[in-house]
Amino acid sequence: MQLSVIGTGYVGLVTGAVFADLGNEVICVDKDEAKIAALREGIMPIYEPGLEEMVRHNVGEGRLSFTTDTEEAVRQSEVVFIAVGTPSLPDGQPDLSQVEDVCRHIARALNAPKVIVNKSTVPVGTGDIVRRWIEQYAPPDHPDFEVVSNPEFLREGSAIYDTLHPDRIVIGAANHNAAMKLIELYAPLERPMIITDVNSAELIKYASNCFLAMKISYINAIARICDLSGADVTLVAKGMGYDKRIGDQFLQAGLGWGGSCFPKDVSAMIATAESLGYDFELLKAVQRINEEQPLYFLSRMRDALGGLSGKRIAVLGLSFKPNTDDLREAKSLRIIAELLAEGAEVRAYDPIAMPKARAIFPQITYCENAYDAATGCDAVAVVTEWNEFRQLNLERLRQAMRQPFLFDGRNIYDPNKVKQAGLHYFGIGRSANAVPFVRSSSQ
Ligand code: UDX
Repeated sequence: MQLSVIGTGYVGLVTGAVFADLGNEVICVDKDEAKIAALREGIMPIYEPGLEEMVRHNVGEGRLSFTTDTEEAVRQSEVVFIAVGTPSLPDGQPDLSQVEDVCRHIARALNAPKVIVNKSTVPVGTGDIVRRWIEQYAPPDHPDFEVVSNPEFLREGSAIYDTLHPDRIVIGAANHNAAMKLIELYAPLERPMIITDVNSAELIKYASNCFLAMKISYINAIARICDLSGADVTLVAKGMGYDKRIGDQFLQAGLGWGGSCFPKDVSAMIATAESLGYDFELLKAVQRINEEQPLYFLSRMRDALGGLSGKRIAVLGLSFKPNTDDLREAKSLRIIAELLAEGAEVRAYDPIAMPKARAIFPQITYCENAYDAATGCDAVAVVTEWNEFRQLNLERLRQAMRQPFLFDGRNIYDPNKVKQAGLHYFGIGRSANAVPFVRSSSQ
C-alpha cells in the first residue's frame, strides 16, 4: 500500500519504519528540514533500539523515503497518517495547531479518495474537527476522504517491538471501507483488532493511559502506607499482582510516572472531562500523588542527611525511564532543580541522556560512570532504573563515597545486600527493610 506518515516524532517515525518493513511504500514527512536531511543520511533524531537498522534497511530497499513536502507525499498516498505533536496548553488541553496545519496541506493535496488516519493523541471529538478542517480548506469539488482514529500505544525504549506486537489494534471509523483499509494494513501483524466509532477509539487511548498512570499512583500511595507502617511495597505489589484481575504490571513503586505521554494525557483527560461538565476528581488525585513522589524522596534525603545544603549528591539516571534519552517530565529534572536550589552539589551519570541534560543543567558535573559519580558524595540517589545500576559493586560504591547513604528511587536493590555493603538504604515503601536512621558525625 502507498502510505504517508506526517510527523517524524516517536510515533510517526516508528510507524513509518514498521509499515515499510511490512512491505508498504512509505513516505515520512516532517517540516523540520534538518531532521529530514539527517534521516536521509541514516541519522535518527531519537534513540530507540532497532530503529536505525530498520530505517536504513527499508530506505535501502526503496520502500521508505523522507520529505518536507507534505502535499506531494499526500498526493502519492491512499492512506495518510497524522502523527504530529499535540503538546499541552496551559489549561491542560492538547494544542491541536499542528494537526490543523496538516489538515490544511491534506485538503490542498486531495487528488483522489483517501483515508486520513489520526495517530496523534487527541481528545474525544477531534475526528469530527479534523473532518471539518479538511472540508473547510479543500476545494469545493474535492474527492471523498474518510477520517479514522487509530491510537498508538507504543512505549519508548520498546517502540519497534510494541508496534510489531501490540496487545490490540484500535480502529475507530464511521465507514466500513475505511476500516477495511486499516484492517488490511495491520493484518500481517496477526494481533487482535477492535473496530469502533471514532469517538470511542479516541477515548480508548486516554482511558488506557490514565488507567496505567492511576495504577502507578495507587502503588505509590500504598508505598507511603508501607513506609508509615513498616511493610514492604515490593512484596505487597507481588501479592497483588498474582490476582489476574489486577495483574502484575505497572505496580512498581518509585518516583512516579514521567515521559511524553502520561503527564500530558492525564492533564488532557482532566481538562476534557471538565469541558464536558464532569469533575474527574479521581484523576486529579492520581496527578497529585505523582507530583508528590519526588518531593517525598527529597524530604527523606533531607531528613537523613540533616539538610541538603553543602551536600554532594550523585544522581544515577536522568532519562524519564531506562532505554531512552528522553528527558521530558523526567523526575531527575525536578530532583536536580530542588537539590541545586537547596545548595547541594550534583554529580550525575546516565548512560545516554547526558548530552540532553547538559543543555538544561550546565552547572552540574557529568561523570564517566556510577562510581565516578559517587566519588566524594554524601548520598547516591538512583532516579532511573537503568540495568547497569542493578548490578553495581556496592562495596566499591561505598568506598568512593564520603557518607554511606543510598536512596533507591526505583526500588532496584535488595536492602539486605545494600546493608551488607555498609550503606544505609532508603527505598520507596521499603521501610520494613530499612536500617534505622543514623546521623553521621559530620553534621
Ligand atoms: C506510555 C504507555 O505505556 C504507552 O502505551 C503510550 O503509548 C505512551 O505512554 P512510555 O511513556 O513510553 O509509554 O513509558 P512507560 O513504560 O509506560 O512508563 C511511563 C512512566 O511510568 C515512566 O516514567 C516509568 O518510569 C513509570 N512507571 C512505569 C512506574 O513508575 N512504575 C511502573 O510500574 C511502570
